[in-house]
Amino acid sequence: MKNTQKLTQQDFKTVSTNEELIALIKQKKIPFQKVEKTLIYESELKKLQIELVKLQQWISKTNKRVAVIFEGRDAAGKGGNIRRFMEHLNPRSMRLVALNKPTEVEKGQWYFQRYIKELPNPGEIVFFDRSWYNRAVVEPVMGFCTEQEYKEFLVQVPEFEHMLYEDGVVVIKFWLSISKEEQVKRFDARNENPLKRWKFSPVDKKGQELWERYTHYKEEMFSKTHTTYCPWLIIKTNDKKEARLEAMRHVLSQFNYEGKKDAETILNPDPNVVM
Ligand code: ADP
Ligand code: AMP
Ligand code: MLT
Repeated sequence: MKNTQKLTQQDFKTVSTNEELIALIKQKKIPFQKVEKTLIYESELKKLQIELVKLQQWISKTNKRVAVIFEGRDAAGKGGNIRRFMEHLNPRSMRLVALNKPTEVEKGQWYFQRYIKELPNPGEIVFFDRSWYNRAVVEPVMGFCTEQEYKEFLVQVPEFEHMLYEDGVVVIKFWLSISKEEQVKRFDARNENPLKRWKFSPVDKKGQELWERYTHYKEEMFSKTHTTYCPWLIIKTNDKKEARLEAMRHVLSQFNYEGKKDAETILNPDPNVVM
């Protein structure tokens, strides 16, 4: 792997004093602006993660049920974003849901059935790395469902989400929005990096070729499933780090958890990132 001239999370783990950090920055010949950007990100991330811990304690104490859905094209950074959310949370009252493609049995069930099993229990926050929205975009784009199934799905989603809303389940929906150029860069990086190669799937290969088809289905999805009770939030994700902070700020802004007043200064969304 090439030396990318940046500070990684690993770097922060290997240094224990400011002097060591400065020595490392010099050794890696990292430009000052990059250092500054990384330090600001790391400190902001930490503040938001502390808030998330408070939020989780509150959710747990008040028996709230919260689902946070991450959608977006391949390589948009869903997994990495979720990882930062979960990093310091108590694993007992949160879960990650990243379902595989449906089995034969699941294909015979009502489409929502396998997702319903994964909805949050009282006191729990659940992160979805992809969700029922597979049927809104990937499935029709790739031909994994019929036209009829797709149409039925679009009718059922708002009804389904309204039932969740009425019952008090909070569903937060993110669309991570990546540009075509950035996607191809990330695919190339995946192929180069043995630690990331597993992420590159046959579905991904089509992402560039079928870009316009994805765009069409994405827009259709927004127009049919963006509701007052369950709106979409679009986050620009060409800058992955900014996208992570913005997603956290948005989640935190949705709740009046205990201790929140300390944090008002860090909760203002950046209008350049959130659309
Ligand atoms: P990911 O981006 O989540 O790493 P892929 O890009 O391989 O995974 O696939 C995108 C989504 O499409 C996944 O949720 C996967 O389960 C789903 N998928 C893949 N193949 C099929 C299929 N034959 N039928 C239905 N869904 C599928
Ligand atoms: P997405 O990840 O689908 O939100 O894609 C976002 C990127 O695609 C942005 O850079 C947009 O400018 C571009 N984009 C999205 N929709 C369109 C469209 N209908 N026509 C042209 N570019 C688009
Ligand atoms: C992402 O990077 O958006 C997802 O976590 C992985 C993928 O694109 O396959």
